[in-house]
Amino acid sequence: MTDQPKRPDKRPDTRLVHGGRRAEWLGGMVNVPVSRTSTVLFEDVASMEAAYPPRDGTLSYGRNGTPTQWSLAEALTELEPGAAGTRLFPSGAAAVSFALASVLDPGDELLMVDSAYLPTRTFCDQGLKRYGIATRYYDPRATAAEVEALLSDSTKAIFMESPGSLTFEVQDVPGICAVARQRGIATLLDNTWATPLFFQALPRGIDLSILACTKYVSGHADVMLGSVTTTEAHWEKLNRTARLYGQSVSPDDSYLAARGLRTMGVRLRRHEDSAIKIARWLQGQPRVADVLHPALKACPGHHFWKRDFTGSSGLFAIVLKDADEAAAVRFVESLGLFGIGYSWGGFESLALPVHPERARSFKRDWPGAMVRLHIGLEDPDDLVADLAGAFQAIA
Ligand SMILES: Cc1ncc(COP(=O)(O)O)c(C=O)c1O
Repeated sequence: MTDQPKRPDKRPDTRLVHGGRRAEWLGGMVNVPVSRTSTVLFEDVASMEAAYPPRDGTLSYGRNGTPTQWSLAEALTELEPGAAGTRLFPSGAAAVSFALASVLDPGDELLMVDSAYLPTRTFCDQGLKRYGIATRYYDPRATAAEVEALLSDSTKAIFMESPGSLTFEVQDVPGICAVARQRGIATLLDNTWATPLFFQALPRGIDLSILACTKYVSGHADVMLGSVTTTEAHWEKLNRTARLYGQSVSPDDSYLAARGLRTMGVRLRRHEDSAIKIARWLQGQPRVADVLHPALKACPGHHFWKRDFTGSSGLFAIVLKDADEAAAVRFVESLGLFGIGYSWGGFESLALPVHPERARSFKRDWPGAMVRLHIGLEDPDDLVADLAGAFQAIA
């Protein structure tokens, strides 16, 4: 969809509610309905042939989408001022992989942040490597000048994830993008933690902004979906790459993600308020050595968070003082309201022991085992009481 956002003058919360709801797709209803199809029937051969090359807004074949998928894509595009379009993928991991594949060719080098989500790292080390694309990791605490010093003639892309997975360092995204743009290097950001509501990536210089919509966009722990929103310069290449590899998402998942998107503003602010309240409480607990939360002063890159973000979400980590792995496991297993499980971004609280040191090139020393928390939409006082009980269990 290369139409520019329809409501650039409206505030983000208004765009969350109205984005992608074109009258011709709604058919008089509030939500764009689930349109399932493989085959599309045409009046005649000429109109069938005119539907190609496929484009959003014109029915051609199920793999190329129906109004259900186009509407979600357009709503996500409207959240990033200046975006040319959004392509949906069957998971966040697929969105990351295809975004990278669309900007890199054999012989190129990628600069990848060391704190990237682990499957992103695995894709680089195994997937890109097979195609003759080299990955060099850089410290998430690196300044823009330090990143610039790492560039070589073959560097064609810089990938950021801010804050980083598990350790939550916030990067100087605008600074790194300015360096990259001067040299024609593509910039990619995994923006899943903040979403475009709390960090507008394209206005800050990013070329391809990636979301695991599985998390806050869907918001109910019942959908796998990813998206990539790009500038005009990267839009055709992303589309071509996705089509080449037959990428397609179901209308049912798109519908659920769009339904989640409408309430993302209120959900995220509730996640934010509760997470900050609980993070501050945790800072005062004797068994907590560190709270890794971008909105807290001690978090590396906190000043970038303050400068560039309009909010924080519900995911952060704690370091348990002098605790070994067994104590972290006992802590997590002693919690009653926090589920034990991967993922985050749903309505429910989650906890799990994490091990950033196992797959990092730039190690940091931690004074104990680490636990990642996702603060859900429960009453935060109940969550505090639950955490207090778990501290007693490991006392
Ligand atoms: C930061 C981040 N990016 C991408 C992904 C991948 O998303 P998905 O699980 O939808 O493939 C995840 C999943 O946990 C994630 O945490």
